Amino acid sequence: MKFIGFGNAHGRKQVTNYDLSNIMDTTDEWIRKKTGIESRWFAEDETNADMAYSAACNALEDADIKDMEEIDGIIVCTFTPDRATPSVANEVAGRLNLKEEILSIDINGACSGFIYGCTVAEALLRTERYNKIIVVGSERISQVMPLYDRNTDVLFGDAAGAVVCTGSNDGYFISKNGLIANSEALSCERFDPQIKMQGQEVYRFAVNKVPELVRGVLKESRFDGSEIDWFVFHQANERIIKSSMEKLGIPMEKTFLNIQNFGNTSAASIPVVLGDMRKKGLLKEGMKVLSVGFGAGLTYGVMICKL
Ligand code: UT7
Repeated sequence: MKFIGFGNAHGRKQVTNYDLSNIMDTTDEWIRKKTGIESRWFAEDETNADMAYSAACNALEDADIKDMEEIDGIIVCTFTPDRATPSVANEVAGRLNLKEEILSIDINGACSGFIYGCTVAEALLRTERYNKIIVVGSERISQVMPLYDRNTDVLFGDAAGAVVCTGSNDGYFISKNGLIANSEALSCERFDPQIKMQGQEVYRFAVNKVPELVRGVLKESRFDGSEIDWFVFHQANERIIKSSMEKLGIPMEKTFLNIQNFGNTSAASIPVVLGDMRKKGLLKEGMKVLSVGFGAGLTYGVMICKL
């Protein structure tokens, strides 16, 4: 599998730390120091599907795909769908005028969702009955935030990111996914949903798991860290990323951060980073990108993909 197109989109309303400090007991200084976040985007009247659709359009444009007949599947990774059914993927497929004979599903792997989605896409492409699949990570988290809860409200944002994947003989893909079942550390109920998080427990899980996952996938793929062009991490906390890079002995120049402008956008965060990197000309054909996701579940996933 190869990634051939990248795109992203976000909620319309920019909300700074100062805006939040006017409505709850927090400060810009605390949020920056503890997380690296400066501002985030909240959706106003736009839906999860609106953002997913925009991101998918941008990824298709980047891949220079105009004929929708080429697309055989769409996977949307999200824990904040607009409805129980039809899925966000169904709605985006309709708006994109994708052909009738496609696979169109939502996947809920929380903040690891995008890695789970790419893993499923690669398995489908490997059958050679699918040629191109769009994988989107899209979240409208502002709708499930408890009102005025500084423990969670300062952390999250609304955005979507998408990639176009194609089966390819000169591509490369490896992923490892996992779950340490725990419904307490980070959860959001189905009805009357409100995010609840035991921040320190999730933090400890992440700072230990991320370096372990990177070492594991490098060993299995037999790549040396120096052969990886970019390390792209779920943007949950700048401190988790810095600590992981330090433990791995990899310079910070080999990762890309946009948590400062987006906050934590769960399943969207990795493809949102990829979309920003593409816009800046940082992603080029042949590069190898290692991505790591972790979050509610407690789920985790790591993948190496060649562009
Ligand atoms: O995407 C899914 C994965 N999620 C994550 O990876 C999140 C992992 N966890 C974290 O990133 C961190 O735990 C947080 C950033 C959420 C919190 O940082 P922390 O260092 O664990 O802080 P804390 O929860 O222990 O809180 C420290 C203090 C407390 O005050 P006291 O008890 O020491 O007086 C909190 O009440 O900071 C207080 N506090 C705040 N103060 C100002 C908590 N939230 C805020 C806030 N503004 N927004």
